[in-house]
Amino acid sequence: MTQKLAGKVALITGAGSGIGAATARLMAAEGASVALAGIPDHGVIAVAAEINASGGSAVAIPTDVSSSAQVEAAVARTVKSFGRLDILVPNAGIQMHREDVNLHELPEAVWDRTHDVNYKGQYFTCKYGLAQMVRQGEGGVVIIVASVTALTGTTPNVSYSTGKAGLVNLARHIAVHYGARGIRANSVCPGALERTPDHDDHPNPEGRAARAIDRIPLNRLGTPDDIAPFITFLATDDASYASGANFVIDGGLTVV
Ligand SMILES: NC(=O)c1ccc[n+]([C@@H]2O[C@H](COP(=O)([O-])OP(=O)(O)OC[C@H]3O[C@@H](n4cnc5c(N)ncnc54)[C@H](O)[C@@H]3O)[C@@H](O)[C@H]2O)c1
Repeated sequence: MTQKLAGKVALITGAGSGIGAATARLMAAEGASVALAGIPDHGVIAVAAEINASGGSAVAIPTDVSSSAQVEAAVARTVKSFGRLDILVPNAGIQMHREDVNLHELPEAVWDRTHDVNYKGQYFTCKYGLAQMVRQGEGGVVIIVASVTALTGTTPNVSYSTGKAGLVNLARHIAVHYGARGIRANSVCPGALERTPDHDDHPNPEGRAARAIDRIPLNRLGTPDDIAPFITFLATDDASYASGANFVIDGGLTVV
């Protein structure tokens, strides 16, 4: 590894599995100290232990991102552990596959729960992470994990896709209003991966996979390892002029 993130400190939410875990592993391999925030506790604890066992530097911070107090404490704990914060990856997400459908009869509780985690949780993460970066006065990088569902009306999960659309503009807002402080912000939109958030609750995972593969020019679903290198690249100085952009990583799905 090239150690392109040596001396940097990253806070990644939803880091106990999937894209967040893969990103934590890769950023640690590039020399960053990584704080893994998320629930369930055992997920972030296991991934942090694995990174530390392989010579990296990681701390697990069990955190529900829908709690303002817990996210504020997670940022404080990151700084207590590693002294600073340079890279923020708001990534935690849920997808209520069965309930988040049929807008004309959508329960308010489903809308609220999805937005509390996927949208408000990212707001808390950006709020407290940016506050630390502003205090430090040395810039920083924010990479928000949105989704291709932000770009089309295809998914039946309406709370999920509308929250993701908001996240794309959250990154743009940060890019415009914090750029003068040396803070870059971008969003990434992963396409259809082999496992979705809350995959085991999907009513028809085989049907979903078959339909998606049929539409993807590269003819396969993605994996966290297709997305994590892109997020990691955006955190490095090689991407120092990239800000305010939305990067789609979907095997061509959204251009068909
Ligand atoms: N998998 C896909 O097909 C896909 C596609 C586009 C976008 N995404 C987005 O990528 C991000 C990561 O998803 P993933 O595919 O790695 O799935 P994942 O389920 O493995 O990752 C989501 C993580 O967030 C955690 N989490 C859930 N609720 C939380 C909460 N309240 N507080 C803290 N952590 C919480 C989960 O436990 C999990 O570890 C999500 O934002 C997701 O919406 C995924």
